[in-house]
Amino acid sequence: MQNLFGAGTETTSTTTEWAISLLLNHPETLKKAQAEIDASVGNCRLITAHDVPNLPYLNCILKETLRLYPGTPMLLPHESSADCKCKVGGYNVPRGTMLFVNAYAVHRDPVAWGPDAGDFWPERFGDGRCDGLLLMPFGMGRRQCPGETLARRTVGLVLGTLIQCFDWERVGGVEVDMSEGSGISMPKAVPLEAICRPRAAMDERQRMENDVDGGDGEKKSMTSVLLPLQKN
Ligand code: HEM
Repeated sequence: MQNLFGAGTETTSTTTEWAISLLLNHPETLKKAQAEIDASVGNCRLITAHDVPNLPYLNCILKETLRLYPGTPMLLPHESSADCKCKVGGYNVPRGTMLFVNAYAVHRDPVAWGPDAGDFWPERFGDGRCDGLLLMPFGMGRRQCPGETLARRTVGLVLGTLIQCFDWERVGGVEVDMSEGSGISMPKAVPLEAICRPRAAMDERQRMENDVDGGDGEKKSMTSVLLPLQKN
């Protein structure tokens, strides 16, 4: 149980933090994602997990985030249980060899992904041109992440909700620092700080629902907040 929590919490929260950071540095992508959610879900209800598979652009953003910032960039170490019968990259692989797969490098390989491999461009997943390329943020084969479906749904839902409900802004207009920290999982070196404001349409709906009353008789208005998504 502890393994599931350990493997499932930091990876999903870190991926969400990278995704929001990327969107803050690419406001046109954020606008496009908001437009997709507005057209598909609207603002009369909150996005649900059932909506996520029907939001292709949101899913492209998620794929592109996991490509550039895979939650576990070196996957997990694997050890061969028997001598490998064939050579791998010209090397014999004897029993007991520890193998690390550098998914981070594979995902950014310009030979496979093109000269813009290092750029954030979710559209690359929209037209099928990346089909068949090695995208493996959840590993591959028998030891592949068993939480992949849950993770995609969870991050999709959280990200979709944050995009549907808030307008996002960088603090002081300064580009979000995208340096990577170290560890088995790949945290941001500088935790994200951002400004978010409830979107006018959602705020209005909330106001109508609550009649601007939180139930305690006190007027509640949604104001802008400075949101530190992660604390050191
Ligand atoms: C964005 C979120 C996530 C990412 C990027 C991720 C990534 C990975 C990777 C790369 C592996 C190693 C695969 C390999 O060695 O080939 C792994 C293993 C694992 N993951 Fe995830 N994971 C995520 C979310 C989750 C969630 C939500 C759960 C469970 C609730 C989970 C449970 C596990 C477990 C138990 C393993 C070990 C499997 C084994 O050793 O056989 N993960 N994950």
